[in-house]
Parts: sequence; C-alpha cells; structure tokens
Amino acid sequence: MLSKYILEARNISKEFYLPVKHNILKNNNLVVKQGDLITIHGESGSGKSTLLYILATLDTQFEGDLIINNTIIKTQSQSFLSDFRNKNIGFVYQSHYLLQEFNVLHNVLLPAFKSDKKNKEQLREKASKLLTELGLSSYLNYPVYKLSGGQQQRVAIARALINNPKLIIADEPTGNLDQKNSQMIFELLQKISSEQKTAVIIATHDPKIYNNSNISYEMTDGVLRLS
Ligand SMILES: Nc1ncnc2c1ncn2[C@@H]1O[C@H](COP(=O)(O)OP(=O)(O)OP(=O)(O)O)[C@@H](O)[C@H]1O
Ligand SMILES: [Mg+2]
Repeated sequence: MLSKYILEARNISKEFYLPVKHNILKNNNLVVKQGDLITIHGESGSGKSTLLYILATLDTQFEGDLIINNTIIKTQSQSFLSDFRNKNIGFVYQSHYLLQEFNVLHNVLLPAFKSDKKNKEQLREKASKLLTELGLSSYLNYPVYKLSGGQQQRVAIARALINNPKLIIADEPTGNLDQKNSQMIFELLQKISSEQKTAVIIATHDPKIYNNSNISYEMTDGVLRLS
C-alpha cells in the first residue's frame, strides 16, 4: 500500500513561463481521506484551478509527488490517466464543457457508457435520478444549449457524479448559480461525502460554502494553508 489516503500530494510546485518564469504553486501538501469534504478559497489568480487540474490528473507537468487511490500519477501514460479519471475522479470544470448539441441525459451518461457498455437502462435511470435531485427532471431531453448557465452547471455536476467516483474535484461548481441552487449543490456534495464516503475537494469563492466545510484551506499566492 503506497498511501493510506485516497489522495496524497507532497511538495506540489508548478511554474509557468509568462514569458519569464513564474512560480504559480509553491510546495503544497494535501492529504485527503475518504469522506473528507475539503474547500479551497483564495483570491482570483492565487492558483486554485492550477492545483485542482494537477490533483485531477489533468496536468502532469508539476514538481512533487501525487498518489491517488494507491497509484503514482506522474509516471502514467495519458491513456492510462484518461481511463483512471473515468473510474476514480469526477471533475467539475470552472467552465463546464458540456456537449452543446447533445441532450442533458446524454451528456451525463457519456462517462458511464465509456466504462460500462452493458447496463444502459440502469444507467439511464441513475442519471435521471441524479438530474431530478439537481432540479432538472423536466429537462432530460433538452439539448444543452437551450439551458441557462446555471442549469448547465448542474448538468456538469451530475456528469461528475454518474460513475460514483471515489474523489470529486469541483472548480467553483456554484460559480454561476443563485444562492438557492448553490446551497442545493453544496448539500448534495455533503450528502455524497458523508453517505458514500466520497472525498470531495471544492474550490469556491462562496463563504457560505467554505465556512461550512469540515476542512477549509486558503490559497495565497500559490501556497495552501489551513484556514
Ligand atoms: N496555461 C497557463 N499559462 C500561463 N499562466 C497560467 C496558465 N494557467 C494559469 N496561469 C496563471 O496562473 C495563475 C493562477 O491561475 P489559476 O487559474 O490557478 O487561479 P485561480 O486561483 O483558479 O483563480 P480564479 O479564482 O480566478 O479562478 C494566474 O496568474 C494565471 O494567469
Ligand atoms: Mg480558478
């Protein structure tokens, strides 16, 4: 066993050349246990999304060590990581990247059909249930481009949850939402984390969220500190 944590990040640093070298992340450590709900807040540009992309295995160009679900991430191939993400990580992007021409249900089902070709009917039921919990039961067959920004963000959240990932990483999942819908999404993530022991990491600017998480970090100029 490489790590007793679902996610262990040690000394994570990252630089961008803009065009001169700029250290965006500086020696960050983070351990995440099953059932943890962790928030990261901090100024715009402080490095939250950059860190989440690394933790979600979407960016492997970093210094330091990352172990997720007993797998050393850095040395893996892109095709391994794509499969690994599909099975283990639900990622909600700051901009949601839905397929606009596909309907709501189809967008949510894409990651599920990728890893399970057999149980389509059960998966459809599961996706409808998730979308209903997110207040979208009347929109299952709507093409995504007909939904509002906040509705699309909720579809992206359902898509991240469909494969029951061990780890959910959400980059401002409530960024486009009003207070009522933000609260609904936060409560759903809390429920999943406590009932299914899913680990959840959320970057957010919303104090109602970061003041109510079990574990709250602040990112300041590329450095993560408990807050
Ligand atoms: N691909 C890139 N190339 C160069 N610089 C980048 C790149 N991506 C991000 N940066 C820089 O890294 C810094 C951190 O950006 P990041 O998106 O991580 O901030 P953030 O904390 O998520 O901000 P926000 O709250 O606005 O989403 C910024 O200064 C940004 O300009
Ligand atoms: Mg960001």
